[in-house]
Amino acid sequence: MDLKTHIRSIPDFPKPGILFYDISTLLRDADAWQVAMTRMADIIRDYKPDYLAGLESRGFLFAAPLALKLGCGFVMLRKPGKLPGNVVGLDYTLEYRTDRIEAQADAVPPGARVVVVDDLLATGGTLSAGIRLLRQLGAEVPAAVTLIELSFLSGRDLIDVPFASLLQYD
Ligand code: PRP
Ligand code: MG
Repeated sequence: MDLKTHIRSIPDFPKPGILFYDISTLLRDADAWQVAMTRMADIIRDYKPDYLAGLESRGFLFAAPLALKLGCGFVMLRKPGKLPGNVVGLDYTLEYRTDRIEAQADAVPPGARVVVVDDLLATGGTLSAGIRLLRQLGAEVPAAVTLIELSFLSGRDLIDVPFASLLQYD
């Protein structure tokens, strides 16, 4: 199955000049979503993760079902102020703004193998922040995986672990 036929591209969203790759059309097609999950699971399984970490919010849509499929725990890396209890945060810089992600301090035991999952790699800022935050928690990050990679932005250069994507766009 050509999964790209299930990704809709929408010009000028969220800003003029940006071509937005919309995963809604993939998620609403049961067969396409299933195929995407199976292919991502096949990649991730080889890294023998104990946990999958998903990046809020679209990353949750992939990381949670993949964790269930692989028999792993699922960990949320969230936008600021959403998680209760003891929280560890990391500020990171995107092209024009600073952002922050947070995790619960006890999210994973020290030395746990955690694969990071998101829907899309663009500049790589979000995913690389996720990797760094997990390391702050004492996790080992053997790999990072996304459904979509905007190859022309070279975001994978920021990712210092093995990285794989299912669909690349130039
Ligand atoms: C999008 C996308 C990735 C990130 C990729 O998330 O879901 O998480 O941007 O961009 P980067 O590689 O340049 O960091 P967004 O912040 O738009 O929020 P959402 O997931 O909550 O929709
Ligand atoms: Mg996101």
